[in-house]
Amino acid sequence: MNDHSTTLSSKLTRKKCIQKIREDAHIESTSTSTSASASGKSTLAKELNVIDLSALGIAAIVGAGIFSTIGNAAFNGGPAIIFLFIFTALACGPAALCYAEFASRIPVAGSAYTYTYATLGELLAWIIGWNLLMEYSIGNIAVAISWSDYFTGLLSGYGINFPEYLSLDYLSAMRASTTIENLLREGKTLIELQKNSDLATTLFAYSAWIKAPTLFGVRIICDLPALFITVIVTALVFVGIKESKRASNVMVFLKLMIIFLVIVVGSYYINPANWSPFAPNGAVGVFKGVSAVFFAYIGFDAISTTAEECKNPSRDLPRGMIISLSVCTVLYIIVALVLTGVANYKTLQVGDPLAFIFGPLGLNLPWVSGIVAIGAIIAMTTVLLVFQLGQPRIWMAMGRDGLLPPIFASVHPKFKTPWFSTIVTGLVVAIPSLFMNLTEVTDLTSIGTLFAFVLVCGGILFLPPHQDSDGNKSKKIFTVPYINSRWIIPLALITIALVLIYLNPESSKNFFSLNSTSIDRVPYYIFILFATVVAVLCFIKNLSLIPILGLLSCSYLMTELGVTNWIRFLIWLLVGFIIYFLYSIKHSKLNK
Ligand code: ALA
Repeated sequence: MNDHSTTLSSKLTRKKCIQKIREDAHIESTSTSTSASASGKSTLAKELNVIDLSALGIAAIVGAGIFSTIGNAAFNGGPAIIFLFIFTALACGPAALCYAEFASRIPVAGSAYTYTYATLGELLAWIIGWNLLMEYSIGNIAVAISWSDYFTGLLSGYGINFPEYLSLDYLSAMRASTTIENLLREGKTLIELQKNSDLATTLFAYSAWIKAPTLFGVRIICDLPALFITVIVTALVFVGIKESKRASNVMVFLKLMIIFLVIVVGSYYINPANWSPFAPNGAVGVFKGVSAVFFAYIGFDAISTTAEECKNPSRDLPRGMIISLSVCTVLYIIVALVLTGVANYKTLQVGDPLAFIFGPLGLNLPWVSGIVAIGAIIAMTTVLLVFQLGQPRIWMAMGRDGLLPPIFASVHPKFKTPWFSTIVTGLVVAIPSLFMNLTEVTDLTSIGTLFAFVLVCGGILFLPPHQDSDGNKSKKIFTVPYINSRWIIPLALITIALVLIYLNPESSKNFFSLNSTSIDRVPYYIFILFATVVAVLCFIKNLSLIPILGLLSCSYLMTELGVTNWIRFLIWLLVGFIIYFLYSIKHSKLNK
């Protein structure tokens, strides 16, 4: 047995897979570099160093989460959401280290898809590739929608009013119309409703519903700015990694400056009374923010999709991921403290909380509020950019393996980017962003990404020891430090269980009694079973502690996302299975 892996599956097969992945990427490179003009193919351009990668990581991480969804999390959890930020960072940290080791050993585009392919086999790799579609494309739909909110808000600050029905999704408008019409039916007047600031967003959506033109009896309501930004970013990603890198580096610098501005100016106005009570709705309120807070951290993994465009991927990718995650963790915790210190948590259920606290209903510093709004637009543009960059590279890897049609793997002869996958990504994000609703897409993104993290943390346990992707012993590759989990994990889980029972004996007893709400607890029951099996395996196999911590903490966060999300997630997986068995398995190169 090696330091931190077990012989849970055949090392021979895994080595073959790693070798094959490497060869596929290499064959592509060789054939293209030597006969680019003849073959019409071309290798990806190697442009990225550690600074570019750290910037790309920050570009992907800091976006809609910290500028937008944090508001809802703070509203539910109060200042205590900083604990959720810390816990989520602790869950993402081990996942980042595992991604880093994989990226160092298998420096090939495809990220978690490629890593799962190498360690857990083709079917699980397909599932993860299918799942990453949730993280990158559905995540980007969420970001495009938030971008549109901030953009239209900024325009209206300058007196330019975009028609409501062209800046909103259909579902939100329809739901708002039901809410408002019910209130009107109850005898309330529109004037009364307009006086209630809690209804401002709903009234905006209602107005979109009322004013929308109709075509064949259907109201035309769509989010045009979301479409617009997706098209622009896709075009940038299409023309080249160098151009994308430059644009991203400049925008990252600007957004970091704006986050610093929020911290510095906000710190000056903190009122410690706002931190009391610190956890107004207890742990339940804090954990309501899991999806929003986790969404804020997504992105550090995205830079692993650029492995083939790095100058020194084995060294720089791990560094880039760890630097970007560490910087963002520190910033997030400070921003959460400032936000909940400046304003009462009850006022923060808005789409633009960082701009809001400096706006007319907050500190009334319009210049700061305006700069923050511009910062949010820049921040979200960079997130869009990195995810639009990442998704095609995953598809490219899947196309190489035969799981998708070969055209997905084709590289543009002039721009040296996976052109077809880039266009498909553009369509997959742009069209739904016209119509989809923010909350649903954020939840789906979080559950899909957590699942990817679970598989990457699990996958690292299956890797052969200290070898690079050619199977040679190598000191250059980054490896997750090994700490034996044999006693630590079982004892830690037993301690946590005893503490929970001691602190709340009644609810612990109720937890296991079956009643009508038991369905909500199914994810917890599955987690308890899973954690018990993992603890036994740790004891028997001396598994490595850090990947196990990532595995358990990310799977725990998944249980907090609610049964509705689980059902949607399972439906998504089912569709993935159908495509796999109808197309991919027949065309897979591994089976030929
Ligand atoms: N972490 C990225 C964001 O917050 C997805 O927008």
